[in-house]
Amino acid sequence: MSRIAYVNGIFMPQDHAMVKMEDRGYQFGDGAYEVIYFKDLHLVDSIPHIERLYKSLSAIKIQLDISTQAMILKIKELIRQNKYTEGFVYLQVTRGISPRDHVYPEGLKPVLTMSVRKITYQHHSGVDVFTEPDLRWQRNDVKSIALLGNVLAKNAAAQQKGFEAWLVDKDGYITEASAANAWIVDKNKTVITTPISNQILCGITRQRLLKIMNDNGIKYQERKFTETETREASEAFLTSSTKAVVPVCKINGKKIGTGEPGPIVKQLQNLYLKFVDTASN
Ligand code: PDD
Repeated sequence: MSRIAYVNGIFMPQDHAMVKMEDRGYQFGDGAYEVIYFKDLHLVDSIPHIERLYKSLSAIKIQLDISTQAMILKIKELIRQNKYTEGFVYLQVTRGISPRDHVYPEGLKPVLTMSVRKITYQHHSGVDVFTEPDLRWQRNDVKSIALLGNVLAKNAAAQQKGFEAWLVDKDGYITEASAANAWIVDKNKTVITTPISNQILCGITRQRLLKIMNDNGIKYQERKFTETETREASEAFLTSSTKAVVPVCKINGKKIGTGEPGPIVKQLQNLYLKFVDTASN
């Protein structure tokens, strides 16, 4: 049976779902997106995800006239129609359809599409990452559908059998991963992650994990860190809505700490998965 997708108000078999050739998302990458995990029909952190979508849309001057609650109802209906109990919803909003021109006409109707994928969190026993120059634009806080810099970096890492690319800015600092936030744990057991700015996406998993660390008395700092610091760290990991908390055991082929997931990342993995099991919005 084909999956069910949503295209501007209509639920339909995904095999039949289409967007127009002159959709500005297709021609210019002119749009924003979100990815929300769900388990047992509960959406994980749906409100912050949808608020971030509206923030991204407002940054690129797209106005979508759907309330957060109406959006949540549509997402839940899509999940119900697909009959999946665990997976993620991909939501995309583009500026609309019009003859190709960099200047967009006023009053375009945005195109909202949604699809679901069935996945369960993998229990990663530790992955390898490779560094790549961060060649992206200067508004990585916007969850733009234009992801060429991310795509090229992750493929460069994949070609070396890496799980992710950790992106390095022109001053030698790790910004984030191509599709996740990046973290290290120093020798004093302090968890470190890059501070929020327009250089990185403010990950919803990142924000949730910071709260979990606060609630559990785990020390952390939001500050920049380099590749050398990563190599000298005792642990490292990455976070995203589709992957949860993933231990990173090697960077550019060199072991981090013992080369095995450490105690802090294991604790954070368990705490985050426990949160997902009790999430209820
Ligand atoms: N990506 N940074 C980037 C560049 C990302 O693409 C993502 C997530 C994150 C983590 O954000 P969150 O915790 O809110 O998922 C950080 C999604 C999953 C994707 O593009 O598929």
